[in-house]
Amino acid sequence: MEMGKRILVLHGPNLNLTGKREPGIYGRETLEDINAEIRDCAQELGLECEIFQSNHEGALIDSLHAAVDEFDGIVINAGAYTHYSYAIRDAIAAVRLPCVEVHLSNIHAREEFRSRSVLAPVCVGQIAGFGKQSYLLAVRALKNLL
Ligand code: DQA
Repeated sequence: MEMGKRILVLHGPNLNLTGKREPGIYGRETLEDINAEIRDCAQELGLECEIFQSNHEGALIDSLHAAVDEFDGIVINAGAYTHYSYAIRDAIAAVRLPCVEVHLSNIHAREEFRSRSVLAPVCVGQIAGFGKQSYLLAVRALKNLL
């Protein structure tokens, strides 16, 4: 019997405050609400899904390393680390799992510093600007790659 594919969804710093922080930009739904929809979407697609949030760069890197033999693909919203964490970029490159970059907001339509992603070159693609739908689109995109 074929084993179900497994995906890891990573949320970076401040995303635990989603729904409370800057709701005009990030929406009013909490991260738990969004996670419930991600789980439903993954289940619908026959994917096993694990979700992890951390405000710490090293914890995100550790979970990327641990993903190597555990998961088939990754969805990541690295929050502000997106714009400057070469360490997260190197971890994504090292694990060599297909990785989809996600943002709730359209990072290209905001402050200039947000329009640069140091992760994008090591990800399969980037989905930004669709609120929680960005995650659901990313899960579907990953499903099609696996
Ligand atoms: C974000 C965009 C980043 O610029 C910001 O630092 C975040 C959230 C997004 O989901 O839109 O924390 O990744």
